[in-house]
Amino acid sequence: MLAVIGGSGLSQLATLEVTQRKVVRTPYGEPSGALTFGRIRGKSLVFLARHGYGHTVPPHEVNYRANLWALKEQQVEGVVSVASVGGIRGDLGPGVLLVPDQIIDYTWGRRGTYFEGAGAPVTHIDFTEPYTPALRQRILAAAQECGEHIIDGGVYAATQGPRLESAAEINRLERDGADIVGMTGMPEAALARELDLDYAAVAVSVNFAAGRGESEHAIPMGRIEAVLAEAMGRVRRIIEQLVAA
Ligand code: HPA
Repeated sequence: MLAVIGGSGLSQLATLEVTQRKVVRTPYGEPSGALTFGRIRGKSLVFLARHGYGHTVPPHEVNYRANLWALKEQQVEGVVSVASVGGIRGDLGPGVLLVPDQIIDYTWGRRGTYFEGAGAPVTHIDFTEPYTPALRQRILAAAQECGEHIIDGGVYAATQGPRLESAAEINRLERDGADIVGMTGMPEAALARELDLDYAAVAVSVNFAAGRGESEHAIPMGRIEAVLAEAMGRVRRIIEQLVAA
């Protein structure tokens, strides 16, 4: 069974036949919301809304440890994260979908490991490839099967938020090699690896990053909702294909 963590614009999956909602507690506190179990075309799936079902939990306050722990406990085979991002590269404007293959962490002050505190072993996970290659390939194949265009690879910059970036910060991220910027990629990816969970992401560009394209002087926030609504329709189709495959 795959798990899907839905971000902004994806707090539910319309075609999911819900079979059960489960409130879970973990040693790390409570996840963002109940886990929703269901089936798509006969195949099981568990869904979690990263920001809560009413979109009330901001990126820097998401309990990433509880979210991943709760999913691990359901014995999921992997986690697909859906996340909205800003596009830094010129070809990554609003509406573009991308499966990142690398990540840079600019977040701070988040609880980002299970290996801390009394009794925890000192452990250094390998993070050379932060996204599980096989799961990335499955997402790309699913997109191709349903005829949805999605870009293979890119560097995700995870910023702290909740504010958006300055134009100079985006220039710096670009110099660092980042293609897209979002606020939730870390520590989610690292925690999945610590739990030995396969993990990959579908990034949805909802705006040009600060100082880029139509965001030259300000990010047109009013547009984001419409872009999200349209793009998430395509993401849903990809996920349905992925789960049903
Ligand atoms: N920056 C950071 N996170 C985001 C953005 C952005 O421009 N758009 C959507 N999530």
